[in-house]
Amino acid sequence: MFGPNPFKLGVFSANCDGGLSMSKAPERWRADWREIEQLALLCDEAGIDFILPVAKWAGYQGEANNYGVSFETLTHGAALGALTRRMAIFCTVHVPLMTPAFAAKAVATVDHVTRGRVGLNIVCGWNQDEFDMHGVTIDADRRYDQGLEWFRIFARLLETGGETGGSFDWDGEFYRLRNLHTAPTSLQRPWPVIMSAGFSPKGRAFAGQAADVLFTNVTEMDQVSTLVGDVHRTAALYGRHVDVYTMAHIVCRPTRAEAEEFYYYFAEEMADRAALDYYKQQKGLINPADVRFVDRPLLTRFSRGTGRNYSGSYPGAYPLIGTPDDITDQMVQMHAQGLAGASIAFLDYLREAPFFLGEVLPRMRRAGLRVA
Ligand SMILES: Cc1cc2nc3c(=O)[nH]c(=O)nc-3n(C[C@H](O)[C@H](O)[C@H](O)COP(=O)(O)O)c2cc1C
Repeated sequence: MFGPNPFKLGVFSANCDGGLSMSKAPERWRADWREIEQLALLCDEAGIDFILPVAKWAGYQGEANNYGVSFETLTHGAALGALTRRMAIFCTVHVPLMTPAFAAKAVATVDHVTRGRVGLNIVCGWNQDEFDMHGVTIDADRRYDQGLEWFRIFARLLETGGETGGSFDWDGEFYRLRNLHTAPTSLQRPWPVIMSAGFSPKGRAFAGQAADVLFTNVTEMDQVSTLVGDVHRTAALYGRHVDVYTMAHIVCRPTRAEAEEFYYYFAEEMADRAALDYYKQQKGLINPADVRFVDRPLLTRFSRGTGRNYSGSYPGAYPLIGTPDDITDQMVQMHAQGLAGASIAFLDYLREAPFFLGEVLPRMRRAGLRVA
């Protein structure tokens, strides 16, 4: 993650069925473990920078119940970490569901398995339905305050835990903990790379204090520099720098017409509208502002350009649809406006990734976006 590629790429959400779509198209990703392994090896070999799984406990219902199948991310990380050689392996932890000491030990374990390639995506939770099975209530106003305290304990444990041989107590607002220590610590010092994905002002402030990378939603290219500037300014308030990435869905085909047709097919004709309604309802409960990503007739420049809706694309995911040249051009624009990377997803990762890797990565190298 701290390597030389100016624009990093990471496979996102391949641990869940449906990947990053709200589609009932039968071609959609099924999250079969053997296919996830093949995908990870393919991407590792091709030089993709990271793999990022989603922490999920329940599906989106509707007709397809996408995300109903999901592999737990720390165990997913340990397994893929043992198979791969180069890419960063992110694990995603829901703050209210795991103590900082548990997370520090688990993340250090995967860091040793991977010889220093683990990353942690810290999420504070948004879908109460998923938390009911754990008996935990999400506090919409305080979740990032808890997250920050959680992160400080986690970070201190990994920074000091095995070296001093000592321990510390913690008396905070959310945690009262005794005799905190952990060994081994992480190989990455003082702790592994941290990612977060908040959009609310509190989410951004959290990233400014805790994260190395923040994911943010970009629906318009001309929003990017303002968004990135805002995140950089927020981080600077804490004397830090945070890289900003976006989340994209890719349909890459030899012709633009083929790409656009396939996108329309799975994201509009085969949209799982009942799942989208469920998503919108749950998002609205935690953060009414987030609903803007769901109520989006012709929301993106892409939709307006084609005059069509794509209801079954994942809310907030930037559509990178077209030829290898089209997609490279858009990434060049993203980078020029300050983005340092993107997560990528495909309707069927294993079937679609080889063309993308073979055609887009060399173009990105020629455009100066990648050296590896
Ligand atoms: C790239 C990315 C990864 C995310 N991963 C997860 C996840 O694994 N589990 C989860 O519950 N939420 C996940 N989220 C949702 C965020 O944690 C967050 O709740 C959401 O982006 C809304 O921001 P806010 O909480 O600041 O309102 C992810 C979001 C993005 C963009």
